[in-house]
Amino acid sequence: MKNAEAVHEAAEILRKGEIVAFPTETVYGLGANAFNPIAVARIFEVKRRPHFDPLIVHVASQGDLDKLVNEIPSDAKKVVEQFWPGPLTIVLLKKEDVPEIVTSGLSTVAVRMPRHPMALSLIKEAGFPIVGPSANPFGYLSPTTAEHVRDQLGNQIDFILDGGPCEVGVESTIISFSGTKPKLLRPGGVPLEEIESIIGQVEIHPRVEDKPLAPGMLPRHYAPRTPILLDWEDKNFDFNRDKKIGLLVFQEPRWSFKFHHIEVLSKKGDFREAAANLFAAIRRLDELNLDLILAETIPEVGLGRAIMDRLRRASGIA
Ligand code: TXA
Ligand code: MG
Repeated sequence: MKNAEAVHEAAEILRKGEIVAFPTETVYGLGANAFNPIAVARIFEVKRRPHFDPLIVHVASQGDLDKLVNEIPSDAKKVVEQFWPGPLTIVLLKKEDVPEIVTSGLSTVAVRMPRHPMALSLIKEAGFPIVGPSANPFGYLSPTTAEHVRDQLGNQIDFILDGGPCEVGVESTIISFSGTKPKLLRPGGVPLEEIESIIGQVEIHPRVEDKPLAPGMLPRHYAPRTPILLDWEDKNFDFNRDKKIGLLVFQEPRWSFKFHHIEVLSKKGDFREAAANLFAAIRRLDELNLDLILAETIPEVGLGRAIMDRLRRASGIA
């Protein structure tokens, strides 16, 4: 099926109140009409997602944004002008009509305009904003290919729109503009430094809270089945030869131990390439029934911040 036909079919399905998986530049999303609470409820069911975890609404135009919020603070306008369409989500006070199930009863709504052409055409053809949590069971790694979605949710969703591997590979950066100062809720595809160069310093929400604002903030999230260990490098890690150990490194392995399998995120040492490969590499390691995955720590600058955030959560030690 041609891309345009597939988008057309997916839009039809959404209009019927059913759900489809769709590609974005960050990760694959699970889409439903944001203004159809029954369709949205089905997303929570399929993902086995707790109802206290609000969804991101995807838009394709200013008109769509106006359906969701009354006011856009000037800092939010500035970042939207710079980074939309793209991997940036903004949290703003919501309009009353935005269904409670979308926002988990919060007075705010998270919105983003993705830049994947198929995502944009899907939203336009459907004619309404689309909720889009990552298309994975709650707590597991986000899918970066249509195959990942098929493997985990294939029999539960009505349609998977295949847009190839995701170019960015980690989820969007989430900034809240609902308080007095902009606040980073989740590091992601737009580096914090780039946002700060436009609106000045952004507060960083503490990693772990009693009541996390975003479950992406839960200490164990984005997690494979195999335990992942970080920060082992300078602790004289005891390489037990009876164990099947996998290695996840940024550029090249620096250890002589005979690992069962090694995943290199970017041979040329490029953070963008590393982010794009991250989830698929962890999935490949996770499929090998290893006893342990050792992961290398990388500098927390630029996209390194989002990569380390996901690695920490995958290892459960955020
Ligand atoms: O890149 C992305 O953002 C992907 C693609 C598909 O667009 N979507 C995504 O959605 O990562 P999800 O549902 O997996 O993560 C959304 C995060 C959750 O941690 C949720 O708690 C937070 O956004 N969130 C949604 N609405 C919020 C709100 N009103 N206030 C604070 N956090 C919110
Ligand atoms: Mg998710």
